[in-house]
Amino acid sequence: MSYKNFYITSPIYYVNDVPHIGHAYTSISCDVMARFKRLEGFDVRFLTGTDEHGQKVEKSALSRGKTPQEFCDEISSKFRELAQTLSLSHDDFIRTTQERHKKSAQEFWKILEKNGWIYKSVYEGWYAVRDEAFYGEDELINGKAPTGADVEWHKEESYFFKLSAFQDKLLALYDAVPDFVQPESKRNEVLSFVRGGKDYVKGALRDLSISRTSFSWGVKVPDDENHVMYVWLDALTNYISALGFPNEQDPLLQKFWCDTKDSPVHVVGKDILRFHAVYWPAFLMAAQIPLPNKIFAHGWWTNSGQKISKSLGNVIDPHQELEWLKSFGCSHEQAVDYFRYFLLREVPFGNDGDYNRKNFVTRVNAELANNIGNLSQRILSMIYKNNDGKIVNFSHYEDAKELLEKAYKLPAEITLEMDKFAFDQAIEKIIIFARACNLFVDQKAPWTLKKEHRVEEMNLVLSTIAESLRCLAIALQPFVPTLSGKMLDMLNVDEKSRTLKFLNADFALKPDHKINEPKGLFPRLETKN
Ligand code: MSP
Repeated sequence: MSYKNFYITSPIYYVNDVPHIGHAYTSISCDVMARFKRLEGFDVRFLTGTDEHGQKVEKSALSRGKTPQEFCDEISSKFRELAQTLSLSHDDFIRTTQERHKKSAQEFWKILEKNGWIYKSVYEGWYAVRDEAFYGEDELINGKAPTGADVEWHKEESYFFKLSAFQDKLLALYDAVPDFVQPESKRNEVLSFVRGGKDYVKGALRDLSISRTSFSWGVKVPDDENHVMYVWLDALTNYISALGFPNEQDPLLQKFWCDTKDSPVHVVGKDILRFHAVYWPAFLMAAQIPLPNKIFAHGWWTNSGQKISKSLGNVIDPHQELEWLKSFGCSHEQAVDYFRYFLLREVPFGNDGDYNRKNFVTRVNAELANNIGNLSQRILSMIYKNNDGKIVNFSHYEDAKELLEKAYKLPAEITLEMDKFAFDQAIEKIIIFARACNLFVDQKAPWTLKKEHRVEEMNLVLSTIAESLRCLAIALQPFVPTLSGKMLDMLNVDEKSRTLKFLNADFALKPDHKINEPKGLFPRLETKN
């Protein structure tokens, strides 16, 4: 069994509306983790996709005069395009209207049924179409769902899943795997929900209605055509449909669901944690399928301090933000990398954050344009102009030792943070190192050395920084993949030597290694008047 397999999933997005910053954020965070794990040498599978069934999607389609399938095709393609625009490195894009998924969801149902966890009864209670969730009377706040969504009273024949039987099993799971739900604050919320408040209340979990009869846009319940599966049961199954379930022999299922230690990881927004941390493991236990390794819930973005909502008209469209960045003269690639960087750097993953263009400009200018961009442009240009683009032998240069030791510690430091999903802290480590490089350059002042014709010393300083830039660029790859890739191209580091294992002294730039012509990569965001 190889534990070097890693499976990470984003939620699959509802196609009732076009993508916004929330979708971009979840997807980018998964992408960064996927790229990091590849850098670490893992065999990675990253899944994203669209959630296309249910009442919400059906209603949206009808209100636009489209058939649900036409509507899904149209909006799903927008999510696929966004994934491309944002340079996501996903390996698969699943749609719940695909045959492979419908077959998988139905088989999953049959297993739950065969194992005795499904029964037929009548559901009577509240339902919020916006959340696609059932709510108890006791959960409503001023007649609305706790999320603020409108609720409707439903009474219909329904199949139920015996969720109540899983209370103790779930609590035992959270106990045995303390980081199953992350971050800690969110884990506590889940515990409290499953316990039924602060203290343990036997029977706190109600059985879950898992089929609907009042509309038809869904996966048909096996052997009962009047029912469609509850959209969350259908949707959650996507994570295994994409690995070939129900074919247990499928190598993908074996490799990425079973033979893996640090995964599967499901990254989700905090609003959909209950479905992933409670219902999904219960379904899997009921079906006797191994559980994921971790559910990580991230926070929500506000827009300049305001909750983002369609009715307030302040939804942040990622495309619009990229256009805004291009108005400063950024290329598409620079805009995408800046956007990715800001989202992951600005806010600790798991916390809520505020999206604000002023902060965006300050952050990117200080850290990418000044700290890293200027450094690389200044130093590489000097090497190119003064030493024919060649690195000198700096292995004996005593003054470089302290700085390069810091460089070679980056992999351990970053890995420690990434293992906690602390993206902002992983970046912080890189930025601290870049500051140390700048300090070194300021102290050694290679331009003065040049003026004073101390060429040998100047070359030692420049080559030390070139090596430091190699390390910086390797470490930056998950966050700003295109720009760091170009930096490595400029440094003439071959494609095969860009993973974390090359980030050490054994692979340092060799004497006479020749760099390519440097180009400015990290433009400052400045309004030109
Ligand atoms: N279809 C379900 C997920 C099914 S997974 C088996 C769904 N889709 S969604 O399109 O409504 O939401 C997808 C993600 O976007 C969620 O993780 C949600 O938290 C995230 N966001 C929506 N608005 C957001 C912000 N304002 N900020 C950050 N993320 C937010 O739920």
